Amino acid sequence: MDLNLKGKAAIVAASSQGLGFAIAERLIREGANVVISGRDESKLKQKAEILNGIGNGQAIYQKTDIKKSDDIKQLITFTKETFGRIDMLVNNAGGPPAGSFEELSDEEWQASFELNLLSYIRLIREALPYLKQRGGKIVNIASSSIKEPIPGLILSNTFRTGIIGLSKTLASELAPYNVLINTIAPGRIATDRVKHLDHINAAKQGLEIEEIEAQAKSAIPLKRYGTPEEFANVAAFLLSDANTYMTGSAFLVDGGMVKSI
Ligand SMILES: NC(=O)c1ccc[n+]([C@@H]2O[C@H](COP(=O)([O-])OP(=O)(O)OC[C@H]3O[C@@H](n4cnc5c(N)ncnc54)[C@H](OP(=O)(O)O)[C@@H]3O)[C@@H](O)[C@H]2O)c1
Repeated sequence: MDLNLKGKAAIVAASSQGLGFAIAERLIREGANVVISGRDESKLKQKAEILNGIGNGQAIYQKTDIKKSDDIKQLITFTKETFGRIDMLVNNAGGPPAGSFEELSDEEWQASFELNLLSYIRLIREALPYLKQRGGKIVNIASSSIKEPIPGLILSNTFRTGIIGLSKTLASELAPYNVLINTIAPGRIATDRVKHLDHINAAKQGLEIEEIEAQAKSAIPLKRYGTPEEFANVAAFLLSDANTYMTGSAFLVDGGMVKSI
């Protein structure tokens, strides 16, 4: 299948590692030009070098804290000035802290709102004038918590579902401009974030991390964690010219883990 991404320009937010980086890599392999971003400049520089070693598309980086409105504005301007166009936007962020309702303060709720929902709103707002010029694609990264709340992750359970309301509404508002927006919900994809959560669960339950991983895998019909590359394949399709009729939808990439219909 020809994804027809050669020469197109993408912004992948929060992409110095994990799912964001895997999507950037997949797009570069397809010949797209990609701006990666995150808060650690030296890590970004190193990751851009890796991406440019692959060839096909070009990778550049911009230090960006997506909790900061001015940083987002600079990210969009930098992309436009460098590539002259924006065709794809991938909204992504670090995960919120674990915690149950009675453990969390107003400050933690506010911080997670800014990181996991407001940042997506701001990224879309700033990129939209450019996406509308030729039609474009937006992909939001959320979590399986959009379908089934995850115990001990109430911040994710609350704000990720907000992404779905936002995305479904924008699907209608942006359809006249041929801007398509979809959400991908990872179950357990092997990244540092999942390792971190497994460590927390292991400490809480007084178990070794290997036991926690084995428990988690046994609850997944495919009996393993997914790879970032498997996740990125789905994102690349949704961002590509091959996707002409899917918008406002949410897709689990979870090996069958979520039990809801
Ligand atoms: N992996 C999974 O299976 C899974 C499952 C459910 C949900 N998710 C969610 O999907 C998202 C990506 O997951 P992941 O596994 O790729 O996480 P990850 O490995 O922890 O990577 C997170 C990325 O976000 C960047 N980041 C964090 N805070 C940022 C900020 N304020 N501004 C800019 N960049 C920021 C990090 O770079 P810097 O720290 O250098 O800024 C890093 O590049 C997370 O929200 C995670 O909770 C993942």
